[in-house]
Amino acid sequence: MTNKVSVDKMATLSTPASAAPLDPHDPKDRELIRRMAADPNVQAAWKGAFDSIVPYRYAYNWSWLGRPAIQFPQDLMALQEIIWRTQPEVIVETGIAHGGSLVFSASMLALLGGEREAIGIDIDVRAHNRAAIEAHPLASKITMVEGSSVDDAVAAAVRARVGGRTAMVVLDSNHTADHVARELALYAPLVRAGFFLVVMDTVVEYQDPSSIVDRPWGPGNNPMTAVDAFLAAEPRFTIDEEYDAKLLFTVAPRGYLRALRDPA
Ligand SMILES: C[S@@+](CC[C@H](N)C(=O)[O-])C[C@H]1O[C@@H](n2cnc3c(N)ncnc32)[C@H](O)[C@@H]1O
Repeated sequence: MTNKVSVDKMATLSTPASAAPLDPHDPKDRELIRRMAADPNVQAAWKGAFDSIVPYRYAYNWSWLGRPAIQFPQDLMALQEIIWRTQPEVIVETGIAHGGSLVFSASMLALLGGEREAIGIDIDVRAHNRAAIEAHPLASKITMVEGSSVDDAVAAAVRARVGGRTAMVVLDSNHTADHVARELALYAPLVRAGFFLVVMDTVVEYQDPSSIVDRPWGPGNNPMTAVDAFLAAEPRFTIDEEYDAKLLFTVAPRGYLRALRDPA
């Protein structure tokens, strides 16, 4: 006898977003979450903690299934919830680096079962990272595209590969406002009603400029700048209230966007 649940079996445990019933026993209290997020003491505490750990390169300390993931663990927890709930067929990510977030997405898609795929785009996939990702047990779930995410030919190739499949998009490459604005224009059309478009490193808006060394982005020129302009022009998306309120310790404040309608 074994109590081991196979990956294929686990896939049957999840329910498509459209059909997912609310769990009446979920201990989450939405009113408490809302009040926590609005509490100035809580806001000051996470801002203080964030400023204190940035110089120690906190986000560089983690890995997922053996690959370094340049993320806060809280964000991976949130992404896990979202992927499990929404069950995209494809996850498109800009910014591969060492592959940790791409392997994370591939691992979630593998658990969901079926023909799912994580597509990563990076302008420079270093040889040692490519070799490690290609040798990873989840490599069959991963497609890497080398090129700039804002190159029209790259975006067209990715859009063609996604085809008619449902997609979630995570933007985590160059963090200037112009670059992210272009990525939003190119990749947001992949995201259908109920699915997520996550824009990482919006937190740069709140960062102490002196802690940003040798980077073209900073307060006033970062992913949040692009998200604000995007949302003002694109009523198809909204900031997901629950994630925005409950995460707190995130690199993506106001960056968890949910599509309200299908693209035209
Ligand atoms: C913050 S890292 C990505 C981290 C990764 N998502 C993770 O969680 O581990 C940013 C990556 O974006 C890539 N990048 C920079 N400019 C780019 C561009 N124009 N197109 C695609 N990728 C780009 C860099 O090469 C780098 O690997």
